[in-house]
Amino acid sequence: MPADGDLAEAAAVLRTGGLVAFPTETVYGLGANALDPRAAARIFEAKTRPSFDPLITHLADAADLEPLVGPVPPVVAALAARFWPGPLTLIVDRPAGIPPIVTSGLASMAIRVPDHEHARRLIAAAGVPVAAPSANRFGQLSPTRVEHVVRGLGRAVDLVLDGGPTRCGIESTIVDARGERPVVLRLGALSVEELARVTGPVAVRPGSSGQPVAPGTLAAHYAPRTPLRLLPAADGTPGAEPTSGGGRRGYLAFRDRPVHGWAAVEVLSVSGDLTEAAARLFDALHRLDAAGVAEIVAEPVPEVGLGRAVNDRLRRAAATWQPTG
Ligand code: TXA
Ligand code: MG
Repeated sequence: MPADGDLAEAAAVLRTGGLVAFPTETVYGLGANALDPRAAARIFEAKTRPSFDPLITHLADAADLEPLVGPVPPVVAALAARFWPGPLTLIVDRPAGIPPIVTSGLASMAIRVPDHEHARRLIAAAGVPVAAPSANRFGQLSPTRVEHVVRGLGRAVDLVLDGGPTRCGIESTIVDARGERPVVLRLGALSVEELARVTGPVAVRPGSSGQPVAPGTLAAHYAPRTPLRLLPAADGTPGAEPTSGGGRRGYLAFRDRPVHGWAAVEVLSVSGDLTEAAARLFDALHRLDAAGVAEIVAEPVPEVGLGRAVNDRLRRAAATWQPTG
């Protein structure tokens, strides 16, 4: 737990228009006062984020939703009641009090209550809603440890709260539940199966490329600096691909099994547990990226539960390194 003094200082930084990086259960966020357009502008600058990519607003408590945005549709209210605090971002209509820069001019707004003590106490102490994207430069790997934040953003942040490694390790699931059938705009740390248990059938539209509804859904995103190649799902013989011709390559494995001849190997979950794999994904990619290899070869995980969100991140990381996507 950060000392109360640290939290009070961080809250004061937010209130006076500064940027605070803070832990959530998913990834570290780069927060600013969501009611202050100049503070929000600093987020885009610090991340070199395109202005068309809207931010998620964070609240300390689910009870703060309706005072900020007014009455919400019943399914949105039901999802908030069931999953907040937690890794679910809901789309609502943007209220007049939220400046358009936060939503990149959209009439809608993304909002969630993170399931992390530091985050909730920080937001409560600041006394304002907090706009926060993941605390990384645009398009790069998301930060799951405070070292990732410092390495990626450095001096662009006014203050960083250390909460250790994040629990879920991948971003929240984004759902638009305003219409007849809920639509998943970004696969994430809450599985589609769990969602559907509350809402009934949901549509999953993470790859819809017609409009940039959620740029976390751009074909190329979440990328390491090292070129990443994703093996086809059926390719189960990583050991048959040893390092060759002096090329130093790294291997990202789902579960523990013998792989040989790689300059670096990361295993997402020794026992093959998808929750653990999701939690370790970005950390493993950060490590492979730092290992000085020329290429990262990754195997996909089973396409079920959180595995869908993990494969989604791997596909987008790989797409960055292909001529066109
Ligand atoms: O787990 C998370 O969601 C983390 C933590 C810090 O809360 N935040 C996060 O933020 O992943 P960011 O900015 O990296 O991703 C937010 C995504 C973007 O792809 C953005 O396009 C989408 O949310 N988004 C924001 N507002 C939206 C809206 N009104 N409609 C559709 N998508 C929206
Ligand atoms: Mg992000």
